[in-house]
Amino acid sequence: MKKVRKAVFPVAGLGTRFLPATKAIPKEMLTVVDRPVIQYVVDEAREAGIEHFIFVTGRNKAVIEDHFDLQFELNHTLAQRGKDDQLAKLQQMQPRPGQTSFTRQQEPLGLGHAVWCARELVGDEPFALLLPDMIMQSETGCMKDMVELYRQTGHNVVAVQECDPAEAHKYGIVGQGGSIHHGFEITSMVEKPKPGTAPSNLYINGRYILQPEIFDVLSRQEKGAGNEIQLTDAMLTLKERQPFYGYAYKGRTYDCGSPEGFVEANVAFALWRADINGSMAGVIEEMLRTIKPRGKRIA
Ligand code: G1P
Repeated sequence: MKKVRKAVFPVAGLGTRFLPATKAIPKEMLTVVDRPVIQYVVDEAREAGIEHFIFVTGRNKAVIEDHFDLQFELNHTLAQRGKDDQLAKLQQMQPRPGQTSFTRQQEPLGLGHAVWCARELVGDEPFALLLPDMIMQSETGCMKDMVELYRQTGHNVVAVQECDPAEAHKYGIVGQGGSIHHGFEITSMVEKPKPGTAPSNLYINGRYILQPEIFDVLSRQEKGAGNEIQLTDAMLTLKERQPFYGYAYKGRTYDCGSPEGFVEANVAFALWRADINGSMAGVIEEMLRTIKPRGKRIA
């Protein structure tokens, strides 16, 4: 069985749900506490043993490449000033030379198309796929547990979580079969099911381990939901030839592509940090008591 060495991060999205913040800054570079959203996702991949980080970018995304580059002058200045803690933080997140690759999705044709754009960089081996809108919080990272399930089962692994059935139409939903190791067999998959038709309330949370045969399927994939080339549709086709296993992630997930999810992530990650928790917890309590909403409520 081939090891999962590479991870793909589709970061070409326009971030329209976040305007005007994302007019000049990629949504992946908005900060949760003190680091950009994309760094949480890359760190999760690194923890899972990933050695090569592949970014599918678009126009106005060059700053992501800068973020993962070595800033020699900055490191030098921090060292000279004795700011060892700050320097250590940068060194911890620094990919080694040759560990990152960047390619562009030239047109916004959907997630399936974005993944297909990485085919040459991935080559003929299994790969992890992490959607950077979703950031996760748990003692062990979601991808690390998925790699473990992949070691036991081989083939394809998709992480899922439970959602309110009324929300199922917003996601890819899987059908659940029998248990296997710490996962289960996936019996069906549907992208953005019409209300009342979802096979379960288990939604795909944005973490995948896929076999390279997905690229061949994607190269022929027709447009699906939202008139976009959908990854879920291609996975469904591949499922006729290869098993797919579900991993039910038990941690917390924050959708940083929406303002609510992003604010939630900021509060959650601030409270998670021992150095900030003490001051934040009190501030939040006081704010809840004293700040009243202004303007109209949105139902
Ligand atoms: C994508 C996937 C969907 C998944 C979701 C998780 O949808 O197509 O299957 O449930 O990410 O965030 P999108 O958010 O791009 O509409």
